[in-house]
Amino acid sequence: MTTAPGEAELLEAARSQPVPEHVAIIMDGNGRWATRRGLPRVAGHREGVKAARAIVRAADTLGLRYLTLYAFSTENWSRPLDEVSTLMNLLERSVHAELPALMARNARLRVLGRPHGVPAGVRRGIDHVVHETRNNTGLTVLMAFNYGGRDELLDAFRTLARQVQAGDLKADDISEKDVSGALYTADIPDPDLLIRTSGEMRISNFLLWQIAYTELVLTPTLWPDFGPGDLYRAVGEFQGRTRRFGKV
Ligand code: FPP
Repeated sequence: MTTAPGEAELLEAARSQPVPEHVAIIMDGNGRWATRRGLPRVAGHREGVKAARAIVRAADTLGLRYLTLYAFSTENWSRPLDEVSTLMNLLERSVHAELPALMARNARLRVLGRPHGVPAGVRRGIDHVVHETRNNTGLTVLMAFNYGGRDELLDAFRTLARQVQAGDLKADDISEKDVSGALYTADIPDPDLLIRTSGEMRISNFLLWQIAYTELVLTPTLWPDFGPGDLYRAVGEFQGRTRRFGKV
């Protein structure tokens, strides 16, 4: 009889092959996780934070260079007010609480998204952690926060349009590199792998430009139940794929 591989075996298998440089995750299903247990949705978000913490550690253990987590989208503002404010506080507190662990692991936090519109206290708290970890050279955790993929593209187009207007760039010369360089992810390689939890089959306005050739792994597991073993398994699935980038 064979048993399913455990976390250590999945880690060992994933580490025996080249690991992706950049993994992005749409962490979905906190609300359903809570509702199924008869708990308020925010209880799911609290569990979601625990899952995120474990995944940051697992990403570092695995040797990823970049981990992007979709924490709060521009669309999330239209959720009930108490859920939004609880989420804001929870995210700010969790990021603050992670500072010692990020420092200990030589990991760096960066934020992808529009700063405008985020409550000032929350922004200050997160900016503090970004500042403190800025010189760390290990894993970079990119938190997509007040992030929208179309907004990111609009901001990039505006930046490029201003360069054209100023005479620093010719419209006909605008290249993919120029667009990439005007995004929030300017100096960061595109994700190799995008994981979405909770069984949804959507991109939800996430990293629209950057995921052109990204491999997708969709899992029915709800985010609070997604553990390091699931990350290692997804990486294993990625390692089994042939990436053709549109060629044969
Ligand atoms: C999805 O669940 C999750 C979110 C909207 C984002 C919040 C994420 C966390 C609290 C995880 C921690 C993240 C960090 C970076 C510390 P959902 O509410 O969309 O679930 P549902 O689809 O079941 O309603």
